[in-house]
Amino acid sequence: MLNNKIQDAINNQINAEFYSAYLYLSMANHFEAEGLSGIANWFKVQFKEEQAHAEIFMNYINQRGGRVILAAIEAVPTSWASPTEAFKATLEHEQKVTASINALYTLAIEEQDYATRDRLAWFVSEQVEEEDNCRQLIDKLSLIGDNGMGLYMIDRELATRTYTAPSILAQE
Ligand code: FEO
Repeated sequence: MLNNKIQDAINNQINAEFYSAYLYLSMANHFEAEGLSGIANWFKVQFKEEQAHAEIFMNYINQRGGRVILAAIEAVPTSWASPTEAFKATLEHEQKVTASINALYTLAIEEQDYATRDRLAWFVSEQVEEEDNCRQLIDKLSLIGDNGMGLYMIDRELATRTYTAPSILAQE
């Protein structure tokens, strides 16, 4: 059985994952409208990944005999000045998510909830990957600067990103 402190903290994290999903869906729609469908595709995949993160936490609470409480999702921004601005906002957001996963990990240790700590270890590694992906894209965009052909090439590259459900979900 999950203790209330841990259950509340995971429910807050579920809300944060859905907020992330909503944020990236908003970015996907923004770039679709801007004619950058490859970048839109990248954010659509990101949206699906965030939904999967929320699902992993929901499954976990249910497995431990707890209660999932879905709260209201805060409204998200709807436009960004450029792809660079959107990816910078994404990195900043992911850094906040990393901090909240780390705080949850610390709480699990304090509460001696080792099963929760184990489940969170997957998220700790996932955050390293998410931040790294963003940094690489920001670096690429800074290399191309105002070059339209460069942006066209990046858009084509990001059009190839596909969603794969995390293996941790398939095992459940
Ligand atoms: Fe669910 Fe992007 O962290």
